[in-house]
Amino acid sequence: MAIGFFKSKKDKGLEDVILPEHIGIIMDGNGRWAQKRGLPRKAGHRAGAKNFRTITKHCANIGIKYLTVYAFSTENWKRPKDEVNALMELFKSYLEEAIRDFKDEDIVVRFIGDKTAFSPELQALIKENEECSADRKGMVLNIAMNYGGRDEIVRAMRRIAERVENKEITAGDITENDISDNLYTAGQPDPDLIIRPSGEYRISNFLLWQSAYSEYVILDDVLWPDFSKDMLEQCILEYARRNRRFGSV
Ligand code: FPP
Repeated sequence: MAIGFFKSKKDKGLEDVILPEHIGIIMDGNGRWAQKRGLPRKAGHRAGAKNFRTITKHCANIGIKYLTVYAFSTENWKRPKDEVNALMELFKSYLEEAIRDFKDEDIVVRFIGDKTAFSPELQALIKENEECSADRKGMVLNIAMNYGGRDEIVRAMRRIAERVENKEITAGDITENDISDNLYTAGQPDPDLIIRPSGEYRISNFLLWQSAYSEYVILDDVLWPDFSKDMLEQCILEYARRNRRFGSV
């Protein structure tokens, strides 16, 4: 459902509502943002990466406990080679800075997705970011890179099937919790709110299992590089107005 609430005045502030514990963001619209300015798509990704830092820090500052951002999907390898290369370069330069950058906000950096497809250099940076932030106490930031919801579920199934093969459990023992416990996000709460700017009404293989009861806020008129701190707060207020029933009445 698209919303036009940005035009209306805030009726409540963040201090008046229960914040979502976990927010997911599909950072969509970088390419169109660049195109509108006559710039190459990689300029849009650069602007998107800059905004990712701003919004991540703001989430941590307002008290969000978990943030998951979709940075690169298992399907994004199909993009033109020079765009994929530009994104890999951007990840590298960003991750070099992130080690210092998120220290002040006390952010724990984690990566979800299949890391083995990345260059050894990028894999080393991923490892360094995870290790040096692991003992922090603040917001957990999951960066979804080479991530696909279906791929994640298949991997979970394989792990569970191995336990059945080894006769540790029977097929009838398998529960929803077993599946959750074998996802990249094991031990974390499911996302309460998922935000997608740029007007696409799709899930795009993002947190498929975990989003069963997430509230979606889709922004029609905003591309990710222009998504502001104020818009984030408006999305949270919209979330707070929703009546979550989880299948009940
Ligand atoms: C989708 O927009 C965006 C991506 C596939 C890349 C997202 C990556 C970033 C914002 C950089 C983040 C950096 C780090 C280090 C996490 P699109 O290219 O599909 O836009 P379009 O739909 O307008 O073409």
